Amino acid sequence: MAKFLVQKSAPLQGEVEISGAKNAVLPIMAASLLTEENCVIMDTPALRDVDVMCRLLESLGAEIHDKLEENTVEIETKAITKSEAPFELVKKMRASILVIGPLLARTGKATIPLPGGCAIGKRPIELHLKGLRALGVEIQEDSGQQGPLEAKVDRLVGNDVYLDFPSVGATEVIIMTAVLAEGTTVIENAAQEPEIVDLANFLNKMGARIKGAGTDTVKIEGVEKLHGVSHHIIPDRIEAGTFMLSAVITRGNILIKNILPDHVKAITAKLRECGAEIFMTDEGMVVRGDVNPIISTDIKTLPYPGFPTDLQSPFMALLAVSRGPSVVIETVFENRFMHVAEFNRMGANIKTEGNCAIIPGEKQLQGAQVVATDLRAGAALILTGLVAEGTTEVSDIYHIDRGYEKFVEKFRGLGATIIRIED
Ligand code: UD1
Repeated sequence: MAKFLVQKSAPLQGEVEISGAKNAVLPIMAASLLTEENCVIMDTPALRDVDVMCRLLESLGAEIHDKLEENTVEIETKAITKSEAPFELVKKMRASILVIGPLLARTGKATIPLPGGCAIGKRPIELHLKGLRALGVEIQEDSGQQGPLEAKVDRLVGNDVYLDFPSVGATEVIIMTAVLAEGTTVIENAAQEPEIVDLANFLNKMGARIKGAGTDTVKIEGVEKLHGVSHHIIPDRIEAGTFMLSAVITRGNILIKNILPDHVKAITAKLRECGAEIFMTDEGMVVRGDVNPIISTDIKTLPYPGFPTDLQSPFMALLAVSRGPSVVIETVFENRFMHVAEFNRMGANIKTEGNCAIIPGEKQLQGAQVVATDLRAGAALILTGLVAEGTTEVSDIYHIDRGYEKFVEKFRGLGATIIRIED
């Protein structure tokens, strides 16, 4: 299996351009199934998850003109030829569940095997199902537990849905199902992530009537038909945060292009607490870790606009080497400290208790053989590798390929010493 070899590197310098957001493009690709007309999606990152979504949509009847080297994908679904998602694809990517809404809206039925994805807790989908049922969808009680999830509906009818937790996936699924339903749907305690706003903008361009995306109340008035559109994907705020961290952990100075500062407010605030200097110029965001001493701070992950869970492990990499102890509390996922064992192999000496990690800080990490236990943990281990003595060998990097475009190339462009070894 392929791996990355990361050497202790000089402070990162130079500029890096952020790609389109993985978590925005996946639901938008699924939403393109809602029309029989052509959709052109630009600034699509060339990622393994995007490739899996292309294959999934094709298996359902979409014609895809994939120009991923130019970061564009065209999707035209004249007819849905199959309402069952293939298990080989769904097991590779949890976001496959997103096609359930468009399938129900266009064909009245959907069969989806259990979702796969990162190994970070149970990741149930009862909120998605609660929303679908409210819109009139019939789902068998043990459906999705023993066998595939089987859903069917004669007529989708809008309704009010309260989410017990602002789940990103559930909010997206309900929006995509409600846009072609009769009447009005209101989602209360909806997720407010920028990726939800991008999805709503895409659907509204197609002719949908969605209001309030980006707040905790989203109102969807059903329409009869949607049409094809062209759309640019928003920049990836998690990739942006990862590069912001790379500047600070290496005490470097980098310019980040194609970044929306409003989407990275939480990470910006926390990095400033640590002593980073961060400011915008006409060209992008400058992040400097070379001005002040870097000190620790505590973090607690929360739904947006709180601190993103996807940057918890990369931020912990910084805390492991910053001055002073710190505490990290993970409230979004139940099993998201798998990277701690890998950091400890490098000498971080972090302790966990439930959803809380205690980080002593001020460690000189040592290169070691470590495993990317999930996508973001993989990115975090690259960051620790940049400041650890000697060589860090990161295996299972297929996780990183799922979500970071041209990762090694971008780091090398900033002066990092990283190579990819294909086995
Ligand atoms: C999305 C992102 C992922 C990010 C996560 C939280 C995509 C493709 N992925 O994942 O990168 O880490 O948001 O920001 O956009 N939950 C339930 N029941 C449900 C649904 C969710 O208990 O029915 C729980 C999950 O187990 C988890 C938490 O809610 O603990 C967050 O899940 P959710 O917001 O749904 O995340 P995803 O959409 O899977």
